[in-house]
Amino acid sequence: MIKFSKILSVCGLSLSVLALSVMAAPKGGKPIVLGFSQVGAESEWRTANTESIKSAAKEAGITLKFSDAMNKQENQIKAIRSFIAQKVDVIAFSPTTTTGWEPVLQEAKKAKIPVILTDRGVDVKDESLYVSLMGSDFKIEGVRAGEWLVDYMNKKGITKPTINIVELQGTTGSDPAIQRKAGFEEVLAKNPNFKIIRSQTGDFTRAKGKEVMEAFLKTEGKNIDVLFAHNDDMAIGAIQAIEEAGMKPATDIVIVSIDAVKGAFEAMMSGKLNCTVECSPLLGPQLMQAAKDLMAGKEIPRRVITDEGVFPAEVAAKEFPNRKY
Ligand code: AHR
Repeated sequence: MIKFSKILSVCGLSLSVLALSVMAAPKGGKPIVLGFSQVGAESEWRTANTESIKSAAKEAGITLKFSDAMNKQENQIKAIRSFIAQKVDVIAFSPTTTTGWEPVLQEAKKAKIPVILTDRGVDVKDESLYVSLMGSDFKIEGVRAGEWLVDYMNKKGITKPTINIVELQGTTGSDPAIQRKAGFEEVLAKNPNFKIIRSQTGDFTRAKGKEVMEAFLKTEGKNIDVLFAHNDDMAIGAIQAIEEAGMKPATDIVIVSIDAVKGAFEAMMSGKLNCTVECSPLLGPQLMQAAKDLMAGKEIPRRVITDEGVFPAEVAAKEFPNRKY
């Protein structure tokens, strides 16, 4: 595994963080109540993330009000409004998309309930609308996927004038889809023989990943050299489509995806996936600690970036027993 160092950044907005936390502290030693709005259950990653949040809340003695938005922003907005009405101590959520949050987050601010973003970021003008964002650097994940790919093709001596890539994007408008694409394209810009010939959303699901890959194969067929999937689930769906089209995944088409879930390791160990870039869903413990710190009137870091690596197929069998999700 290639390891990257942990970055912990604490910047700006410390005064507003402190003000919110002091005002929102629960009285009388009652357990902290945390309202959490989850995106849905679209992927193996998301299931592990939900499990991490639920078990960490239990462990920390925090009362968790959990709501599944079933991939719909309007459901998340409803859930956040209901947390405000219930006067929870802290609200946390993993946003479906980056935009459209200002009104509901203003309502939370007015109610003096601090908001923590986990996993994904939002695009808001007023940065005081949330106190912290904890999770991966999605752009770096895209860069890591691109760098691994260029390096792999060079080492294999694959120097065609054009290397044709198809891309399965995550949910349209979501932070990871936007950032992973940007990071990957940044690497391609420096390697102009690598070209994205088709790119479409597979909504982070296996079923959609398979469906879109089938369409790519129909129009592009043997033209496709590489698949870049924004998550492992879509890659696993696409692998099925490639096999059904009579081709060999990871041999006829080089495949790199993101998350590093167990399913991806299994695919690598059976020779069907070339590389997965890690994105850790195990955010529960740090979220609970942040909720406790806020309630104790402590300042919490504005941005916490998860420590992550890259796993090519060669290391899959050795690393598999260590995987926690
Ligand atoms: O936001 C994290 C992304 O969302 C994961 O990569 C993907 O699997 C999930 O659905």
